[in-house]
Amino acid sequence: MKTILVTGGAGYIGSHTCVELLSAGYSVVVVDNLHNGSEEALRRVEKLGYRDLLFVNADIRDMAAMDKVFADFPIDAVIHFAGLKSVAESVRDPELYFDVNLSGTVILCDAMSNHGVRDIVYSSTASVYGFSSNEPIPETAHTSPAQPYGESKLATEDHLRERNAMDPNWNILNLRYFNPVGAHPSGEIGEDPDGIPNNLTPYITQVAIGKRDMLQVWGDDWETRDGTGVRDYIHVMDLARGHVKALEKLAERPGEMVLNLGTGHPYSVLEVRAAFERVCRQPIPYEIKDRRDGDIAIYFADPSKAEMELGWRSHYDIDDMARDAWNWQKKNPHGYHPD
Ligand code: NAD
Ligand code: WQD
Repeated sequence: MKTILVTGGAGYIGSHTCVELLSAGYSVVVVDNLHNGSEEALRRVEKLGYRDLLFVNADIRDMAAMDKVFADFPIDAVIHFAGLKSVAESVRDPELYFDVNLSGTVILCDAMSNHGVRDIVYSSTASVYGFSSNEPIPETAHTSPAQPYGESKLATEDHLRERNAMDPNWNILNLRYFNPVGAHPSGEIGEDPDGIPNNLTPYITQVAIGKRDMLQVWGDDWETRDGTGVRDYIHVMDLARGHVKALEKLAERPGEMVLNLGTGHPYSVLEVRAAFERVCRQPIPYEIKDRRDGDIAIYFADPSKAEMELGWRSHYDIDDMARDAWNWQKKNPHGYHPD
């Protein structure tokens, strides 16, 4: 049975991936400093995956702690989610984003190297593309991240590419996620934003449950089909399954590879709102506001390379994403925190 180190496993995408890993028969070790993760999520992951995992509360930037993880456990491969992801915070404090996202990854890789582990799946982002396009975006598109968050993720991808260039024994899958949404269909785990959500779908579910008055739609004058921003939303369970496929790919020793994980189906803000109205069976009030700084009109994935390389494609549609996000919100009005 293979043992996988999941950094950031107590967070949103990591927790869903851990369920899929346990269900697929992997042993799982989670390293997380709980900056934005929850031990309660891990308890629920064990319930959903019908098996226990091991949890180490540590910061990926702590070399001694990371060294000890690799000394203590027979890690075969790493899935690296740990990092910071707020675009707005990255504009306020770019150094922090480079420290956690880039330097943290360098330290993690040094610890891997010290213990002969050279297989890693990295959580990159469609933010590395940074431009608007009416065509699906392939992995070969140019990269020009528009903010420090995207820059720190691209710099980390570049570091990983460099590792592989220096030592071809490194196998690295840089997965560029588009817009992850939804929750485990059980409603036991999901996205638990701190304070006012920055992202669209957690904001909508908080409106639906009565925590917020109405959705602010950031602009209706974009060059899109209804004037609102258009994105490629992907169900977090599809992403989680993609990581299991990525681990199988690592076993083929692929070297370094970039893969988009998206559906290829773009939806506007108003179309997403309509999907939530269908599944919540209630109106989601909204108002049109000015464009948000740094926003982009439209981008969505060309996911064909992931299908070819991993044998993976998305299964869930926008109504499934809305249904599962709403189910999680209803069952956990305060997220993982008691009232
Ligand atoms: P999240 O914040 O829910 O999870 C990240 C986890 O990493 C948290 O549990 C947090 O406590 C942990 N962490 C943060 N800094 C750490 C450190 N220094 N040491 C150890 N643990 C640390 O975020 P998520 O949405 O699950 O995102 C996971 C990864 O996917 C991130 O790397 C993010 O950049 C990337 N990503 C996310 C999205 C998205 O919209 N959610 C899109 C594309 C890429
Ligand atoms: C989606 C659409 C908004 C909130 C961000 C990061 C990206 C990635 C995913 C990590 C846009 C509109 C939103 C609201 C709105 N994360 N919107 N009202 O901006 O595509 O991507 O999260 O890698 O890096 O940039 O996602 O959910 O914030 O916005 O009208 O209250 O919804 O303008 O068109 P985004 P989002």
